Amino acid sequence: MQKWLDLENKVVIVTGGSSGIGKRMCQSFMEQGAQVVIVDLHTPEEMESCTFICCDVTSKDEVEQMVCQVMEIFGHIDVLVNNAGVSIPRLLVDADSRYELDDTVFDKTMDVNVKGAFHCAQACAKSMLRQHHGVILNISSECSKEGSLAQSVYSASKAAIESLTRSWAKELSPQGIRVVAIAPGPMEATALFSASYIDAMCHCRHIQPEAIGTTYHAATLMGREGHLEEIANTVLFLASDRASFITGTTINVSGGKSR
Ligand SMILES: NC(=O)c1ccc[n+]([C@@H]2O[C@H](COP(=O)([O-])OP(=O)(O)OC[C@H]3O[C@@H](n4cnc5c(N)ncnc54)[C@H](O)[C@@H]3O)[C@@H](O)[C@H]2O)c1
Repeated sequence: MQKWLDLENKVVIVTGGSSGIGKRMCQSFMEQGAQVVIVDLHTPEEMESCTFICCDVTSKDEVEQMVCQVMEIFGHIDVLVNNAGVSIPRLLVDADSRYELDDTVFDKTMDVNVKGAFHCAQACAKSMLRQHHGVILNISSECSKEGSLAQSVYSASKAAIESLTRSWAKELSPQGIRVVAIAPGPMEATALFSASYIDAMCHCRHIQPEAIGTTYHAATLMGREGHLEEIANTVLFLASDRASFITGTTINVSGGKSR
């Protein structure tokens, strides 16, 4: 019997699929019988049935080689999820300069979150155009709309990916390729919340580590963090033909934050 999402044997590339939100969506895609390719800097744990390709999405050459490899193995690409991302808290002006925004942080954030998605979208779209079908999903963040204290460049990078989503949809949708962004809100902890992230965030926001979760959660209408599965559920729906009339837009999955 055909499953409602009908993702069986679909070839799905997930960048940043070794950890957090990406890892959870890879598990959900596999549960639906999809052929999952994890593209990451780090080898995933406990994901034996996935194909793993080590690739830095900021390198155009590595991305092109990765897409060639996927085409050699599977012959086509149905879905790309641009999920790899970094968040490095910094203030525009920091009184003691410890966590002040500099060119290194600015460039790294834009390189991974924006240029990385561009490299992957371009390389995959070339194959998808030959097939006359495909879905490109870009993981943004709800902070793209409101901005975020100590996350100005991160928020700007996510606003950029949402803007790219709208333009790429105009270019590709007439040829059967949907492009959609998903904007998660405050989530349960992932590797994104590293020790250096927490230290920088506490310094910049004048809060204690315990307060990070509670201030985020208070900002949602539902008074709680989002679960990784809730992002995965939305991604799988958007990747499927059940979302066949959705393109060129951003879907917030944020418990009502930044509506
Ligand atoms: N966690 C949240 O609260 C939250 C909220 C909104 C949006 N997001 C977005 O969701 C996405 C996933 O975040 P997460 O919380 O799961 O983070 P995470 O740190 O757990 O996972 C990110 C993955 O991306 C990989 N990666 C980083 N740079 C890369 C590169 N240059 N090339 C290839 N892979 C690279 C990392 O190795 C890691 O496995 C990100 O785009 C993030 O901005 C997260």
